[in-house]
Amino acid sequence: MKAKIAEKFKTLFGTDGEFFTSAGRINLIGEHTDYNGGYVFPGAVDKGIMAEIRLNGTDKVCVFALDLDEYVEFGLNEEDAPAQSWARYVFGVCREIIKRGGKISGFNTVFAGDVPLGAGMSSSAALESTFAFALNYLFNLGIDKFELARIGQSTEHNYCGVKCGIMDQFASVFGKAGSLIRLDCKTMEYKYYPFHPKGYRLVLLDSVVKHELASSAYNKRRESCENAAAAIRKNHPEVEFLRDAKKEWLDEVKSVISAEDYMRAEYVIEEVQRVLDVCDALERDDYETVGQKMYETHHGMSKLYEVSCEELDFLNDVARECGVAGSRVMGGGFGGCTINLVKDELYEPFIAKATASFTEKFGHAPKVYDVVISDGARKLE
Ligand code: GLA
Repeated sequence: MKAKIAEKFKTLFGTDGEFFTSAGRINLIGEHTDYNGGYVFPGAVDKGIMAEIRLNGTDKVCVFALDLDEYVEFGLNEEDAPAQSWARYVFGVCREIIKRGGKISGFNTVFAGDVPLGAGMSSSAALESTFAFALNYLFNLGIDKFELARIGQSTEHNYCGVKCGIMDQFASVFGKAGSLIRLDCKTMEYKYYPFHPKGYRLVLLDSVVKHELASSAYNKRRESCENAAAAIRKNHPEVEFLRDAKKEWLDEVKSVISAEDYMRAEYVIEEVQRVLDVCDALERDDYETVGQKMYETHHGMSKLYEVSCEELDFLNDVARECGVAGSRVMGGGFGGCTINLVKDELYEPFIAKATASFTEKFGHAPKVYDVVISDGARKLE
């Protein structure tokens, strides 16, 4: 990928630049908990975005997206974001840095990536983090890593219409090879957990479906959670986020919130606890309990949070039938991948069975990605 980027950069701009990269992410457990101030448990993966960049001495940004074969230019003082959705991420990162007082000028760049799009592995966070990290480095802005992650998150909020939490950008910036990271999204305290489950491996099965309106459905989930938290707060002022609420407190407001908001909040309160349970189980190398919790998450995401779909429920059922330790829909949902914790000896038969039965039912094969937990944003030498 690096060679292809370099070749294109030279052809387009006649010079060389510096290389930066950042990663997509997986999440072991803790889904839709981040914007509720809860825990998440992600890690960066070996699939990401890579960009070559060189300052051009103007106030113009010239970006070539190699995978799409598309070129976009924008001025750093322009208010209107480019029409191409991929370019809005780069534009948004620049604007968010400027908003924070960062002094940046124009640059030329070519970027490419290998995070599968729409798979729930957060290709967009990888893109945002690559540019946030690179511009911080190139302009010597002194922005800390948390703020780099927030720059990516604000880009999603303000330029891409997704009111996401901080998990994806955090994982993309803070990722470390071989470790998952438990993050408390309220206090931003985090802890690396070396993850080398003996006798098990993590594999993603990508349904290769992405349902329409995923971002508006996502924002609607977030609203439901905020409604429920606001109702609980009337009785318990200490409840800043749903993460602070007990199940009994939710029950107290059952009659004043909608049935839908109640279901969403019930899922979140349970999911926050499941992350802690998984951490405890990991301390004991108890992977069967970890897996059990993953199935519980899937059930909650499918039946209470309603962000699964037929294809993902099917993959989850196949995992269960094959005796896979844990399986669940990963990321925002509405398509994308399941993440599966599989005993080594079950790996081959599981992949074979899932591929055959999924293909028979849906007419196309799922894609298989073995998880390699890797480093996040960095400069390449
Ligand atoms: C998307 C968002 C994250 C998080 C997950 C669900 O990936 O970007 O902030 O909410 O969905 O856990």
